[in-house]
Amino acid sequence: MKRLTYFSTVLATLLTSLSVTATADDKVLNLYSARHYATDEALYNNFTQKTGIQIKRLEMSDQALLERLASEGARSPADVVLLVDAARLSKAEEQGLFQPIQSELLTQNIPTQYQGNKGMWFGFSSRNRVILYNKDRVDPKLVSNYEDLAKPALKGQVCTRSGSHPYMLSLMSALIAHHGEAKAQQWAEGMVANMARDPKGGDTDQIRAVASGECGVALSNSYYWVRLLRSDKPEDKAVVEKVGYIWPNQDSYGTHVNISGGAVAANAPNQAGAIQFLEYLVSPEAQKYFANGNNEFPVVQGVKTGNAELESLGSFKEDKTPIKTLADNTNLSQKIMDRANYK
Ligand SMILES: [Fe+2]
Repeated sequence: MKRLTYFSTVLATLLTSLSVTATADDKVLNLYSARHYATDEALYNNFTQKTGIQIKRLEMSDQALLERLASEGARSPADVVLLVDAARLSKAEEQGLFQPIQSELLTQNIPTQYQGNKGMWFGFSSRNRVILYNKDRVDPKLVSNYEDLAKPALKGQVCTRSGSHPYMLSLMSALIAHHGEAKAQQWAEGMVANMARDPKGGDTDQIRAVASGECGVALSNSYYWVRLLRSDKPEDKAVVEKVGYIWPNQDSYGTHVNISGGAVAANAPNQAGAIQFLEYLVSPEAQKYFANGNNEFPVVQGVKTGNAELESLGSFKEDKTPIKTLADNTNLSQKIMDRANYK
């Protein structure tokens, strides 16, 4: 069975390398993407219309994408790499999978906190880690900060996805940055002590469990909530009825932010086209497509998404900790989660 899986992997790699061959053709751009939103199609078509550059897209999970880039090495046909989560971007940078680029357009339009070192990667949309609570069971005043979730008052009420998931590790990295390692660990231990159930499922599952009353309060990325807000399904409308939304830590350092971002691959055959594509991503129309596809926030100031539900969340104070600091803390975050037995 193992052998079979191995051969099918080799076959798949061969087939894809036949269709995506390394080429110096400047009218073709090879895009490796961990994004998979239907609206991204419009984003790519629009770029092709403007530039005449065809996009050949390969979509995979973040993990598979990074492994593939590493195994292809210098022969990789990849020009642009799109990933979700700063820690993954940072890891890819460390592994030498990206090349530094110089672009005033990018450095000036993207807030510095969303940029990697020396133009190694850039964030193009942002997502926030927010608190959702059951309106019948929990007083919102008790859960206005991440720190509140670990207090004894919330015993038996807290639900989250796995502590090893990048979204939880990224939040932990922010807590380390604000409070130091010892207090961050106390937080993780307090969270574990307060769990309504062992961590399981994705963020939407936590929100549903809050609505059903199995959990009193949960953490989720903002776009999962907006997705529910935009849903026409009666079961989603029922969830939205029961649940309240909080931007955490508005009276202190602000709500935790992560990004979806991109970079130029280390061995990009079409380096100029790759930079052109990243620069296209900061144009207002591309920002609208890129962010809106997943109900995220554009990183460029003043871009209107036209997404009423997203806009309805209002303005809020964001944690300004540089994304690269969060990425640098990731290994320690995992250690703390393990020590706290955060499953
Ligand atoms: Fe997600």
